[in-house]
Amino acid sequence: MDLKSFDPEKANVERPEMFDFHGVTMVHYFTDNWENVQKFQARPDDILIATYPKAGTTWVSQILDLLYFGETNPERQTTIPIYERVPFMDLLIPGVFSGKDLADNLPTTPRLIKTHFPVQFVPKSFWEQNCKIIYVARNGKDNMVSYYHFDTMNKVQPEAGTWSSYFQRFLQGKLAFGSWYDHVNGWWKKKQTYPNLHYMFYEDLIENTGREIDKLCSFLGLSPSAELKEKVLSGVQFDNMKKNQMANYSTLPVMDFKISPFMRKGKVSDWKNHFTVAQNEAFDEDYKTKIDPTLLFRDEI
Ligand code: A3P
Repeated sequence: MDLKSFDPEKANVERPEMFDFHGVTMVHYFTDNWENVQKFQARPDDILIATYPKAGTTWVSQILDLLYFGETNPERQTTIPIYERVPFMDLLIPGVFSGKDLADNLPTTPRLIKTHFPVQFVPKSFWEQNCKIIYVARNGKDNMVSYYHFDTMNKVQPEAGTWSSYFQRFLQGKLAFGSWYDHVNGWWKKKQTYPNLHYMFYEDLIENTGREIDKLCSFLGLSPSAELKEKVLSGVQFDNMKKNQMANYSTLPVMDFKISPFMRKGKVSDWKNHFTVAQNEAFDEDYKTKIDPTLLFRDEI
C-alpha cells in the first residue's frame, strides 16, 4: 500500500457507478471490502466516528486525534495524514488503500476509526464491544452543497452532474451512502437504545467549538489540561486545518483541488448561495415528510 507513489490514472481509478446495496445506494469503493469489513474485530477502547459524508468528519477526527495524542505525540498532526491517523474503514482502493487494514494495524490506543456507513452497516463487533461512537450530523441543505462540491472533485465518488440533477438525487437518496434522511434518522434512533453514542451537530461546533469539545470530553471521560485544550482549539480552527497538509487531504491523489478544495468554506448556510427559491421550497416540503420529528436541526446560527 503506497499512496505517495500512487497515480490515479495508472491505478485505473475511475468514476464509479451507483447501485443498490442491501437497500442503500453505494459505489464499489465502499462495498468491495464488505465481507472483510464486516469481520472487523473492534476492541472495547476503539472509537468510531460516524457521519454522512461532508458532515464534519475530518474536523471531529482532528479534534479527537489532538485530544488523545496532542500531548504524547505532538508531531503526529504535522507528519501523518488524517486518513492514516483516523482510517476510513469502508474504503478499498485495491493495492493502494485499505481502510480496514489500516484500522486493524493502528499502533495507537485508542484506535480512532472513521465510517460513513448507515447504522445498519456497522460491523457487529463495535456493538458487541460497546465501543464509544461519535456521530456528527449537519443541516441537510449545507450537507448537500458540500457533498456536491466534493463529488465534482473526488474520483472515487460518482460524477456530480449538474447542480439541479444533484439536488434531485439528494432528495431521492441516490448518492453514495444513500439517503441523508435515512442516515441521520437511523443513527438518531440508535442513540435512543445505545448510550455509548454521542450525537453532535456541525452547526453547534461552528457556534461554540470549545463547548462542544467539553461535551465530547465528558462523553469520553477525558480531562484535558488548559494547555492541551488551547492546542486543540487552535489546531482545529478552519484556517489552520486548511493550511495543514496532514489535515486538508492535499496529499490524497484522488482529489482534484483545482476543481474544489477539501477545506472549502467551513460555514453554515452556504446553501443560500446555491438553492433557488423553488428548490428551497421543494426541500422544505420533502423534509417535513422524511425527517424524524424528534431530530432537530438548526437552519441558522
Ligand atoms: P464545506 O464543503 O461546506 O466547506 P467531512 O470532513 O465530513 O468530509 O466534511 C467536510 C466539510 O467540513 C467541508 O465543508 C469542510 O470545509 C468542513 N470542515 C472541515 N474542517 C472544518 C473546520 N475546522 N471548521 C469548519 N468546517 C470544517
